[in-house]
Amino acid sequence: MKSLRNRPIGIFDSGIGGLTVVRSVRRYLPEEDIIYFGDTARVPYGNKSKATIIRFAREIMDFMASKKVKMVIVACNTASSLSLPTLKRSYDIPVMGVIVPGADEAVTVSWNRRIGVIGTRSTVASGAYQKEIGRIDRRCKVFAKSCPLFVPLVENRFFADPITRHVARLYLNGLKKKGIDSLILGCTHYPLLKGIIGQVMGNVKLIDSSVAVAKHAKASLEGNDMCARRRGRKGKTKYYVSDDPEGFKSSAGIFLKKGIKVSKVGL
Ligand code: DGL
Repeated sequence: MKSLRNRPIGIFDSGIGGLTVVRSVRRYLPEEDIIYFGDTARVPYGNKSKATIIRFAREIMDFMASKKVKMVIVACNTASSLSLPTLKRSYDIPVMGVIVPGADEAVTVSWNRRIGVIGTRSTVASGAYQKEIGRIDRRCKVFAKSCPLFVPLVENRFFADPITRHVARLYLNGLKKKGIDSLILGCTHYPLLKGIIGQVMGNVKLIDSSVAVAKHAKASLEGNDMCARRRGRKGKTKYYVSDDPEGFKSSAGIFLKKGIKVSKVGL
């Protein structure tokens, strides 16, 4: 049991955005080792079909299994929306996605039971957040909107640019009119636009699904007595990508403060 506890947590994403989840997991579970995989050869996932995402996710799960991880967090909202039930059925490793934690948190903080969700086209079209919120509390009304331009804006570092503000208004004004009191940032990149999204939405609580999943992972590891025991030593994170490790490394600065070492692997 002891050696199992000290195994790493696997976290995967379509590319770089999952580093928001790495950041949150490090904050809530500082002693855990992490294996991160970014599928940079095949990013973006946000406009791909369910069958394709499931195929990619299975290949990444096999990679994670080879690294002997004790659990896998699917950081990518699109992959969580489309592949999680299949992954849970197909692997012995505990798998957690971002949908349930984000939906849970939204239902908890919402007073008027009018909840907004934003994400990629595939995430919104899958209805995963909408279904999960309905399962938790069917009195909730969910309003969803895909915001496909947000990912490239973040990756090009247009965090506080007038262009981003304009795009945010175009995407979000309709949601604002619906009288929602909470909004799930249902994509890895959106926490980096919290400033602008918050300004456009006004008095609406923003739910960062990367924080929500880190809290769920902590509760799950504690509940199963599976937390690493390192006597205060900080965990280490190893980064793997399917293409362009140098590009990943330089973009990682958008999400993480410290420099990182990145290895390329074929799946
Ligand atoms: N990681 C994806 C998500 O959270 C966004 C980027 C992509 O489309 O691959 O949905």
